[in-house]
This record gives sequence, C-alpha cells and structure tokens, in this order.
Amino acid sequence: MQLTCTAVHPETSSVSSFRFRADQAVDFIPGQFLTLLVPFSDRTSARAYSLSSIPADQELQLTIKRVEGGRVSNHLLDNLKAGDKLEAMAPAGGFHRDAAGDKPWLLLGAGCGITPIYSMLRDRLLTDPDADIVMLASAKTPEERLFAKPLAQLQAEHDNLKVVWLLSSEGNRLSEELLREQAPDTANRSVMICGPQAYMDAAEALAATLGASNVHSEAFMQVQKSLSDCEDDTAAMQLSVDGIELPILPNQSVLDSLEAGGVQVMAACRAGVCGTCKCKGEKGKFESTSTMGLTPDEIEQGYFLACASTATDSMTVAVND
Ligand SMILES: Cc1cc2nc3c(=O)[nH]c(=O)nc-3n(C[C@H](O)[C@H](O)[C@H](O)COP(=O)(O)OP(=O)(O)OC[C@H]3O[C@@H](n4cnc5c(N)ncnc54)[C@H](O)[C@@H]3O)c2cc1C
Ligand code: FES
Repeated sequence: MQLTCTAVHPETSSVSSFRFRADQAVDFIPGQFLTLLVPFSDRTSARAYSLSSIPADQELQLTIKRVEGGRVSNHLLDNLKAGDKLEAMAPAGGFHRDAAGDKPWLLLGAGCGITPIYSMLRDRLLTDPDADIVMLASAKTPEERLFAKPLAQLQAEHDNLKVVWLLSSEGNRLSEELLREQAPDTANRSVMICGPQAYMDAAEALAATLGASNVHSEAFMQVQKSLSDCEDDTAAMQLSVDGIELPILPNQSVLDSLEAGGVQVMAACRAGVCGTCKCKGEKGKFESTSTMGLTPDEIEQGYFLACASTATDSMTVAVND
C-alpha cells in the first residue's frame, strides 16, 4: 500500500511522530507494526515501526526514534515531510491488544517501546473505559518521556488507570520492590512488555517472580549473530545465490550469512514475524523457528524466512523471491 505523510510532530529531541493517509483501508490490531519500504541512495530498506495510532483515529501514526548511526531512522527523521509518499506492507505482528485479552493489564514499556503499548492502552480505554490498567513507563530523563501529556490526560479521566514514570536520571528503575508496590496483583494481570532487550529480559523475570502467566513481549532490535558468534568457526556449508557461493555456519541464520556476503535482503523485523525476508531454498536443507506468514503451499515449495532459518546442508537460495 502507499502512505502519504500528512504531518510530522516532534515528541522529544530524538523522537518524532509521523501521520499518514493510506491509499486503502488499513485493518490493524493496536500493538501491531507496519513495515516501511524506504528507498534512498543505492537501495530500498525495510524497517518495522509500531503504530502509535488506534483504528478509531482518522490517520495512521508511527513514532520513530533516531538511532545513532542508524540508516533508516536518521533518514526519516531528517527528510520525511508532509506530502512525501512511502510504500508499506500490511500491518503485522502478534504483540497486540487481542493477545493481552480482557483481564486487568500491566504494561511495561521503556523508551520508544512505549509506542505499541500506548496504542493498546488508548484503544482499550476507548472501548472498555473501566479497564484496570497499571502502566510502568521507563525513560532516561523527564524530557524523554514519550506521550507524557496524553498519558497524564488519560490518567486524569480514568481512576482505573495508573501511570507511573520511572526515570533513570532520578535513580528509578523497574525492580521487584517497585512492582510489588505498584502492581501486587501482577499474577492476575496480562503483562505486555516492550523496550530494549536487557529491559525486557529483566521485566519478564520480574513478572514471572510475581506469578504472571499471560506475558507477551516484543523486541525492536534482534541480537544479531556474526560469524564469530557462532559455535563452530569452520564454515562447513555454502549458500549459492545467483551463482555466488557464500559460507554459512551451523546455527548462523541465512539472513546473517547473506548480509555478511554483501547480498541485499529485505528484512524488517529480523524476528520471524513480518515475512519481508521470505526466500526460496531447497526443502529438507534448512530448519526454521518460524514460518509466520508463509502458506502451507509455499512451505512445501521450499520458501522460508531467512531471519528465522539455519541451513542443515549446502543449498541454492533465491533471495526475496
Ligand atoms: C516489531 C518492531 C517494531 C518496531 N517499532 C519501532 C517503533 O515504533 N519506533 C522505532 O523508533 N523503532 C521501532 N523499531 C525499530 C526499527 O525497525 C529500526 O530497527 C530502527 O529504526 C533502527 O533502524 P536504522 O535503519 O536506523 O538502524 P540500522 O541502520 O538498522 O542499525 C544501525 C545500528 O543501530 C543498531 N540498532 C538498530 N535498531 C536499534 C534500536 N531500535 N535501538 C538501538 N540500536 C539499534 C543496530 O544494531 C546497528 O548497530 C521496531 C522494530 C521491530 C522489529
Ligand atoms: S525479517 Fe521479518 S520475518 Fe524475517
């Protein structure tokens, strides 16, 4: 689908929200993301961005943080303006309001990870205004609190919503003591977590300590394996791509191997959820941890997700086929 940017709104010094009008109806569940296809200089890059809007809003909104040295985030924050057009893939992702369900919620977000959580929160309060929600939101400084004003407004309108900001500049971080104090009934809540990996690991462990069972999380950045991270440093297998042979190690993802060999691959989520990295290989010569978005027919024909697959034998690969 094609998106036309209608407005840009700075949220903090490093984060801006971009509003878009789509050329078709866009169905999404709050918490899901869009994959933007961003052409500039020599290639088109795919990147996933959570929708910070809700279906009841007139326009779609993405909220994008500047990542130091990041190719796409810097390009968008420096260049994207009202009137510009971008291609995007349909909304996707399993971290959403329906997964959280109708129980009371505990929302744990840090930095830009507050984006999908904010969308879920707004949507739930619109359709279920008495929902019992506790949100513990982490930011480095008061100025970096994302959506601080609208969250304060929502809190003023709903006694059943508690929003607590944890500012690392003031020495406040998510801890077991704090969680017991703010959400002693965590075990009875659906817990939705989004933020940097270290934050999510800590938050998941704390939620488990307090007995939570319905816990969902979403990473904005995958830990990428490089050749040196892999267990075996002898490349035993080869991927053949357009006649070029590339080494691939046991446990190395096909995506990492292709990128290490300089092959351009569309890959937005790097987590086996968006489907952008779909490639065609030889059935029986790879193993996958996710086939999300692939049809049974495609799987039968040898299609796989490069970010979620490793090779078990040398094979020929057609990239983004
Ligand atoms: C499901 C999903 C939803 C997402 N939603 C959002 C969102 O709502 N808002 C948003 O701003 N981003 C979001 N992201 C992250 C986004 O897709 C990009 O990864 C991010 O904008 C960086 O892209 P880049 O091209 O600027 O950086 P790259 O050029 O891809 O990376 C440059 C360097 O930065 C590191 N890096 C990449 N991403 C991050 C990151 N997020 N934090 C810190 N370091 C990073 C890389 O490891 C690399 O070293 C989401 C990602 C996923 C998978
Ligand atoms: S990059 Fe999203 S599924 Fe592989």
